[in-house]
Amino acid sequence: MKLPQVQAYSDPIRFLRACHAVIEQQVMALEGLVQEAKKVGLKQSFASNAEWGELLQFFSIEAAGHEKDEEAGLFPFVLEKEQRVGFLPADSPIRFLVDGHAYLVSKVESLLDVWKQFLNKADPSSEASEHFISIAEEMVKAYREHISTEENLVYKHANDILTPAERMVILERIYQRHDNEVSMPMLNFAQPTFTENLKSVPLDYTDATSSVSISEEPTEEEEEDVPKEE
Ligand SMILES: [Fe+2]
Ligand SMILES: [Fe+2]
Repeated sequence: MKLPQVQAYSDPIRFLRACHAVIEQQVMALEGLVQEAKKVGLKQSFASNAEWGELLQFFSIEAAGHEKDEEAGLFPFVLEKEQRVGFLPADSPIRFLVDGHAYLVSKVESLLDVWKQFLNKADPSSEASEHFISIAEEMVKAYREHISTEENLVYKHANDILTPAERMVILERIYQRHDNEVSMPMLNFAQPTFTENLKSVPLDYTDATSSVSISEEPTEEEEEDVPKEE
């Protein structure tokens, strides 16, 4: 499973929401596999479902890429606006969400390790199975809470306050990140690059948007979460 292509979207919030919809489907699929593993045992569930590998790869690569899109594109803009209205960085929901990214990625990587060991013929012990299942359950819960917090505390607010020009800059940052992805090493969320991202954000958007000409506010139809073409 892949996330939607950013090139099909003209609005970053719509793109990020479409990614959430796919991640939520995958969270549901993970929940289903966990339930099955609790019934038949992890080893049996691994042996009969290659979907474990596909799902864990999805969370490790695709979902982690979505978190990077948020950190490189949307979050710096929202944080900067929050600071203008008096949020201290330590109190910002963005801080909490970036910590959440590191937490989620570390959980996924530990699950993926157990899967890879299984592929290398190392069956999980009953203790390791129990541990795996409890981490996977935690991950399902944490992903749902994370997405819900983002939608309610960040996306909704961002959708109200971002100007069309700012949306273009955010999309441009996400495009750039995707273009560079092939040559970029996987980021280590245990050492978030958020501060680095912030340093590179222009505080005066006039320069950053000078090449973008936007004549109108989005129409009501454009506000719906529909990609340009699909
Ligand atoms: Fe996130
Ligand atoms: Fe997200």
